[in-house]
Amino acid sequence: MLIKAADKIRSSEITPKSHFLNRRALLAGTAGLIAGAALPGYARSLDFEKASGDLPGPLTDKDDITSYNNFYEFGLDKTDPKKYAGALTTDPWSVKIDGMVNNPGDYALEDLIKPSTLEERVYRFRCVEAWAMVVPWVGIPLADVIARADPVGSAKYVAFETLVRPSEMRGQRGSFQLLDWPYREGLRLDEAMHPLTILANGLYGEELPNQNGAPLRLVVPWKYGFKSIKSIVRITLTDKQPQTSWNMQAAREYGFYSNVNPEVDHPRWSQAKERVVGAGIFAKKQDTLMFNGYADEVGGLYAGMDLRKNF
Ligand code: MTE
Repeated sequence: MLIKAADKIRSSEITPKSHFLNRRALLAGTAGLIAGAALPGYARSLDFEKASGDLPGPLTDKDDITSYNNFYEFGLDKTDPKKYAGALTTDPWSVKIDGMVNNPGDYALEDLIKPSTLEERVYRFRCVEAWAMVVPWVGIPLADVIARADPVGSAKYVAFETLVRPSEMRGQRGSFQLLDWPYREGLRLDEAMHPLTILANGLYGEELPNQNGAPLRLVVPWKYGFKSIKSIVRITLTDKQPQTSWNMQAAREYGFYSNVNPEVDHPRWSQAKERVVGAGIFAKKQDTLMFNGYADEVGGLYAGMDLRKNF
């Protein structure tokens, strides 16, 4: 057990650069790396051990990624989403795209995401609670979806909303509600159109588990994990900075930008170091990297901004 943890620490000196793999070829069936049966109309199980030579550190165990979650629609405890998210019906699913677009509408999930458009990307994930993972997502660039909706020239932001369905989301029932539903998130349009930003519908080459935000969730690898809104039902283009759930809940603690920034502490704890999920309780914490290691790619988006004010 200890030996396993030590291995993980050593190899988890995660590459301080962004890495993402566009493995359309793999998903399309390149010989040698595909393991397991094809999922119907979907990504296949991939042999990540063999494919992991150029990844940003060892992949976090699937068990850790899928059993230690935040998804307040299903409860406040990290173990609640895995226990209770199975109650959510994710098929059929559609996403309303509206606001400042030329092609508004209710887009069926299978129309938005076609198997031929799926890519697999391995990203670092950094939670504001100071833990980190490396996750192999499957999804499509958000830019593709926004381009289809054809934003008008004056659109500046993108707002996202999660489903509200108390009958299946037990955290939306009862008298105590930490958040005001629907769960909301937002990005500036240039952040949303950045090629690192994806809508994910899969994990480890398989369909996204409900607890991780099935059937469709946002992934913005240079921002704290809470920006990754799950089970999205609405995407709205707007010219006003959207409200976001955590900013509404505690504005002093969670700003609109939410970029991973070791120099800006959370009011109640430091953000300079992070614990690697799965590395064991005795593992040394590692330094948190600016923009979660994606500074070369995204730093320019924030040129000239005071990141202490725009946290
Ligand atoms: N999306 C919704 N709809 N509801 C939530 O409570 N929690 C956020 C984010 N997306 C949340 C959400 C937070 S706080 C985190 S850290 C990430 O989801 C966790 O993603 P994971 O469980 O896949 O690791």
